[in-house]
Amino acid sequence: MQSILRYLGCDPHLYDGRLTGTNFGFRLNYYPPLQVSAKGPAGRMLGHEDVDLFTFLPAPEVEGLQVLNRRNMKWIRLSPPPGSIILNTGDYMQRITNDRLPSTTHRVSPPADAALLEKPRASFPMAIYVWEDEILEVLPGLGEPKYPPVSAIEFHTRTTSKYYGDKYAVTDQEQKS
Ligand SMILES: [Fe+2]
Repeated sequence: MQSILRYLGCDPHLYDGRLTGTNFGFRLNYYPPLQVSAKGPAGRMLGHEDVDLFTFLPAPEVEGLQVLNRRNMKWIRLSPPPGSIILNTGDYMQRITNDRLPSTTHRVSPPADAALLEKPRASFPMAIYVWEDEILEVLPGLGEPKYPPVSAIEFHTRTTSKYYGDKYAVTDQEQKS
């Protein structure tokens, strides 16, 4: 986060407090071996963005991760060196950077090497959040804010309620009452 803030010309320590003893989530994704039908192998995960500040992803042994190039809307297949860690920006980051660092649209495709199709794939991403009562506010010096300040819980649940239903959303109004 310090590197990102420095890159954006902000105080690199602006998020030190918020990211000390922070809110994070680990997920273990298991993708079984792929069956190849006449249409070819199915994809493994549809395109999406992560609702977080950023995601750390140790490069899985079986490749397949693709990211969307927003300029030409083409998918780019990643070939990270073994042992490397991928960092994907998420929705919180897009919001606080006033769209300077968009949330990375990504998906998991079948591996390019057909010999790997029958191998299962495991990935272990770590999603970095801020605590629910922290305020997501556009960073200073990034132009006229396109977004008003919002609590992390309201922003997060508003975004994810499209999967879990409207009742899942918590508004700042409700929190105060
Ligand atoms: Fe993801």
